[in-house]
Parts: sequence; C-alpha cells; structure tokens
Amino acid sequence: MNRNLLAWYDRHHRELPWRVSPGASARGLRPDPYHIWLSEVMLQQTTVQAVKPYFDKFLGLWPTVADLAAAPTEDVMAAWAGLGYYARARNLKKCAEAVATDHGGVFPDTEAGLRSLPGIGDYTSAAVAAIAFNRPSAVMDGNVERVISRLYAIDAPLPGSKPEMKRHVAELTPQDRPGDFAQAMMDLGATICTPKRPACALCPLNDRCLALAEHDPERFPVKAAK
Ligand code: ADE
Repeated sequence: MNRNLLAWYDRHHRELPWRVSPGASARGLRPDPYHIWLSEVMLQQTTVQAVKPYFDKFLGLWPTVADLAAAPTEDVMAAWAGLGYYARARNLKKCAEAVATDHGGVFPDTEAGLRSLPGIGDYTSAAVAAIAFNRPSAVMDGNVERVISRLYAIDAPLPGSKPEMKRHVAELTPQDRPGDFAQAMMDLGATICTPKRPACALCPLNDRCLALAEHDPERFPVKAAK
C-alpha cells in the first residue's frame, strides 16, 4: 500500500519552497533541517499558501538558525505579524537559541533529540526527524488522521482514537522513505482525501480504503458527541 502512495507522491507531490523533490531525495539530497523545522512550525494552524511568503521572508532575513537565534525578539515578532498564534514565534526564537547555544547550530538528528528542544512537541519532532533526517517516525497531523480514519473505517471518535491511528501510521511507514511517506500522507489529505467530497476516484489507496468500501468516506473521522 505504501508503494502505491509513494508512486503517487513521485508524480503528484506539491512543489513547496522547503521541499527537496522525491527524485533528488532518492539521489541522497537531504533538505536543510532549519528549513524543515521553520516550515513545520509555520504550517501548524496555517495553510501552505499563507505560509509560503513568510517562509521566504524569514530565510531572507535569517538564512541560518544561528542568525535567527541572534535576532532581536521584536524583529522576529514583527516578521511573524499576520501568521497568528504568536506563541509559535516566541517558541521559534527560544528553540533557535537552544540549537545555536547548546547544539553548536546543528539540529539534533533524532526524534528524541528534537523533542528535547524548547517549543518542539510530538508533531514537530516526528515531522523534522522523518523529513529532514529520514528517520522512520510516525508523523500524524489532522490530514493524516483523516486519511487513516478512512482507510481503516475507525468508528471510535477523536481524540480517543489517536493512539490507534498512530499505531497504523507507524506500521505503514516504510523504513526506506519515511520522509516522503509522511509528506505523501499530508499531501493526500490536503488534495484528495479532503474533509468534504474527497476525490476517491483519483486516490492511490482506493483499492483498500474501508470507508470507501462502506460508500461513506465523509463519515470519518468520527468526532466525539459534544
Ligand atoms: N502540512 C504540514 N507539513 C506539511 C508538509 N511537510 N507537507 C505537506 N503538508 C504539510
């Protein structure tokens, strides 16, 4: 199943400024961990389209994590203005300082090492470990939850079903291309397996999706009654 998904990603991945294309990745080119970390922090609660100009602006102002660590906090907050959820900007600055002072300007290359940095949670540590360092971390965000809940027709409601979903993601994650797999799941959720009217006819996983077999993918993910 993950081979179908990776083949789909090879053809249909979104070109994003922080991404290394799957072909280049296969030739051993890795993305810059600073770029991946910055983009993943920005992408939490914000769409890809809104993030793009901010990502470019930040890299223009602060080309390395050491530059960001040395920047005045007011400047970072001012550059963040408009992206929302300002705690992210404060945490960004704290994390950059920790990487610069405690790690010699080099991001830790494991999920646990990344998780020990200030302001980095489960999602960001897994995403950076997988995408920047090709570690087989199980990466789960809202898009991935929707895809998994449909593939397995998970009737238990969110958020209680998260551990079960995470087990499925961990099982599905291929050892050889975990970063591409994580990004493929997110792209699939964003472009095909959408909340409303998913494009199941185009989905590389439609031959094994239990929600589609039940003719009602939109029923998933099931949310707890309020
Ligand atoms: N949303 C958050 N991170 C993403 C990524 N790396 N690729 C696609 N969508 C995302």
